[in-house]
Amino acid sequence: MQGKRILLIVGGGIAAYKSLELVRRLKERGASVRAIVTKGGAEFVTPLSLSVLTEEKAFTDLFDLKDEAEIGHIRLSREADLIVVAPATADLLAKMTHGLADDLATAVLLATDKRVLAAPAMNVRMWQHPATRRNLATLQADGIEFVGPDEGEMACGEYGRGRMAEPAAILEAIGRLLGAEASPFAVGTPLGPLSGRRVLITSGPTQEPIDPVRYIANRSSGKQGHALAKAAAALGAEVTLVSGPVALPDPHGVTMVKVETAHEMLAATLAALPADIAICAAAVADWRAADESPHKLKKQGHEIETELRLAQNPDILVTISKPGPRRPRLVIGFAAETENLIENATAKRRSKGADWIVANDVWPGTGAMGGDTTQVHLITPSGVEDWPPLSKDETAARLLARAADALSAMRSAAE
Ligand SMILES: Cc1cc2nc3c(=O)[nH]c(=O)nc-3n(C[C@H](O)[C@H](O)[C@H](O)COP(=O)(O)O)c2cc1C
Repeated sequence: MQGKRILLIVGGGIAAYKSLELVRRLKERGASVRAIVTKGGAEFVTPLSLSVLTEEKAFTDLFDLKDEAEIGHIRLSREADLIVVAPATADLLAKMTHGLADDLATAVLLATDKRVLAAPAMNVRMWQHPATRRNLATLQADGIEFVGPDEGEMACGEYGRGRMAEPAAILEAIGRLLGAEASPFAVGTPLGPLSGRRVLITSGPTQEPIDPVRYIANRSSGKQGHALAKAAAALGAEVTLVSGPVALPDPHGVTMVKVETAHEMLAATLAALPADIAICAAAVADWRAADESPHKLKKQGHEIETELRLAQNPDILVTISKPGPRRPRLVIGFAAETENLIENATAKRRSKGADWIVANDVWPGTGAMGGDTTQVHLITPSGVEDWPPLSKDETAARLLARAADALSAMRSAAE
């Protein structure tokens, strides 16, 4: 970090005190730090403390003419190698999402072409609020980097995710970003929260041959699975997409493996391991024809009914969820149900050994099967989250953002 220039934006949260420690550690490592304190931030740490620790003036006001003449907001951004927002409050994230620029911090954030690393810190309910989830997905798609938040006891007396990452974790993320060279806003940037992670996704239906011309299939379009692959790539992951037959273009920047049957999908999925995250979004046929005919089956005289014997297909989600060294750290399954959605999906999470289940109602009236929108429920060991109706792209971005958070929390817990 020697000689690197960090522009630190301190928002208005209790965790602002940890930013003082962050400044100290950055300085110890030879970085120079300039600080901007928001109006809210100045309620928690004084500009004086920041200026003593940074050995620079701490900047507070967009309309400080002296500063604008000498060192305006554009110059603050220009003279930084990396912008770090810590704590990134819910309010700051919302302003960044919408491109507001009504104070020095947000004006710098909007005017910058530098990488931005945000360390969110807020009450667990603020973090879980759909507005914050939407903002996070947008900011991630815009190329903003995130570290944390962590799960734990909060200053407000509650427990959950929302604690700002510890200075050591923020330092580690800063080091990683300063070491990387790619453009911050490129789709598929290797700098996203899933950079260096391998994500395996299955998508689409499978086709189970009855004879050379007929097969058993389902109405899955692959739209959700393909959207997940795009979202994972956009967060910097190395993505393998194992897909059944679909009428969709191959997503950019992912390794495609095209299969037809459940057996082929299972083999391709196992071959793509190891992975950090596996998302089984394919609608794998539960059954295949027990006796696939090598020849086209013929009608038998005037018989009105005929019998087709079915054999059960392997369960890819169960196979991949089995404990063992090759099990991905986070296994997510999709459950398409037409009745008792939550009960069936909750039971499925346990019986299949998956970490999370994304349950969606595929009753024909919902339009989820084959359509562009969906309404899902995320079932995790902590309970059920009801998500609003979203496009499949939004659902994918939201799920991948959650998965990235979960992986970084596992890493923090392991440290
Ligand atoms: C005691 C107290 C603690 C707060 N802690 C947080 C927090 O941790 N995270 C957050 O997003 N907002 C927190 N808030 C609310 C923010 O301070 C408020 O939204 C403020 O406008 C944010 O300012 P900023 O946009 O400059 O960061 C807190 C407010 C108070 C009074």
